[in-house]
Amino acid sequence: SRRILCIRHYCKKTPTKLRVSEAISGSNLGANIKIQGWVRSVRPQKKNLFLHVNDGSSLQSLQIIASSDQNDPLLTFGCAVEVTGLLKQSPNQKQPVELEADKIRVVGECNPLDFPFKIKERHAVEYIRQFPHLRCRTNAFSSLLRIRSEATAAIHSYFKKNGFVQIHTPIITSNDCEGAGELFAVQPQRPENDVDEKFFSVPAFLTVSGQLHLEVMSGAFSKVYTFGPTFRAENSQSRRHLAEFYMVEAELSFTQSIEDLTEVMEDIFKSSTEYVLAQCAEDVALFHKHVSPGHRDSIDYWLRTKFPVMTYSEAVDILNRSSQNFVFPTEWGCDLQKEHEKYLVKHCGNIPVFVTDYPYDLKPFYARDNQDHPEHTAAAVDLLVPGVGELCGGSLREERLDLLRTRLEEVGLEDAYSWYLDLRRFGSIPHGGFGLGFERYLQCILGVDNIKDVIPFPRFSHSCLL
Ligand code: 4AD
Repeated sequence: SRRILCIRHYCKKTPTKLRVSEAISGSNLGANIKIQGWVRSVRPQKKNLFLHVNDGSSLQSLQIIASSDQNDPLLTFGCAVEVTGLLKQSPNQKQPVELEADKIRVVGECNPLDFPFKIKERHAVEYIRQFPHLRCRTNAFSSLLRIRSEATAAIHSYFKKNGFVQIHTPIITSNDCEGAGELFAVQPQRPENDVDEKFFSVPAFLTVSGQLHLEVMSGAFSKVYTFGPTFRAENSQSRRHLAEFYMVEAELSFTQSIEDLTEVMEDIFKSSTEYVLAQCAEDVALFHKHVSPGHRDSIDYWLRTKFPVMTYSEAVDILNRSSQNFVFPTEWGCDLQKEHEKYLVKHCGNIPVFVTDYPYDLKPFYARDNQDHPEHTAAAVDLLVPGVGELCGGSLREERLDLLRTRLEEVGLEDAYSWYLDLRRFGSIPHGGFGLGFERYLQCILGVDNIKDVIPFPRFSHSCLL
């Protein structure tokens, strides 16, 4: 019985380690707890010292109340602390619980004069962006990263629920799926006088799309997807292009028409957004309040409305009938530019819109020829969204061996893609798929202007910090 007493005594004394989100949930009131995190505010008063501590588990910080003799000059904005004490109900309505500290230990100091962020100050995104190693300590960026994490979970959960098999497509590849010449070459770094032999024996690149590898797998699993880093050597500093971004790609076999793809694109957009709005309500609200006021109403409208669909030819007609002075040409056969996408989205009432059946010559070799159309088009589709432009690009794939062989011959790729022709020789099936730019998706649902603010470590031309 002495031992039991000792254990009881020990249990009472050992504080339970909690995350801030668990502490503020209110389910541990009266418990002796320990939290670890970073100080977001320090407010010494005559008798008491008030701190707010955040550990990244929630947008909210936990209020700590301590006697003023626990004040320590090292206890500053930005320092890391460990606090133990009693979790109690707070008399303050805004903050339902508070931690009455009996011990505060500064784990890591932070000189507030050198720290780039200032207490209670709202910093401009351009300023915050200069500190990729510290910006996760700001409210807005930590919210963004929690949302990003939940959106990732939402996408995987969508595919799992709908019977897709996840494929880890390679990052290093010998093909240029899009044929747009935006490849980063991969070579080992060798001392200058080393033997000049190619590591892979063939030219190798960072992937611009996992599509062709997914097409291989769709020939065995019917429904497959991949979600990983994708690389494009685009010499662009635009607010919607990165050199490294994440792409969600799906490939479906036995497709009948382009509607089989638009249905999945719309479904994944809506179900992931609903999930994120529910799981990250507070974090999302922060964006909709401070970054994009009014955006939440737009999203609610999108979620309850069927996305309109128009053909490329209809889009060109709409552009030509408008009274806008576009910079780029709007003739049939020209690629749609950002200004055109923006106009089309506005024309449809500021809602995501599908544009289908693009001119055949604008699309890569794999796109299916719409032979029954009077104009020469491919069964391709883009999803254009307000504020961002193109969010998804997809197509039915040319599954007919003769047509594909002719096309590959025309572009001089018949030998390099003999394995791709094999897929049409051995159990070929009508199939199609699409890619969704994950960062553009986050921009779209949060109303974030610049793509560099929705990825932890942005890479773009002339910039590879850290
Ligand atoms: O339209 P894209 O180039 O399509 C493909 O790569 C297809 N092979 C995908 C497939 O069918 N499996 O790219 C798909 C999406 C774009 O709509 C855009 O959202 C995003 O990827 N994207 C970029 N996002 C950020 N930075 C860039 N440089 C991007 N390039 C494309």
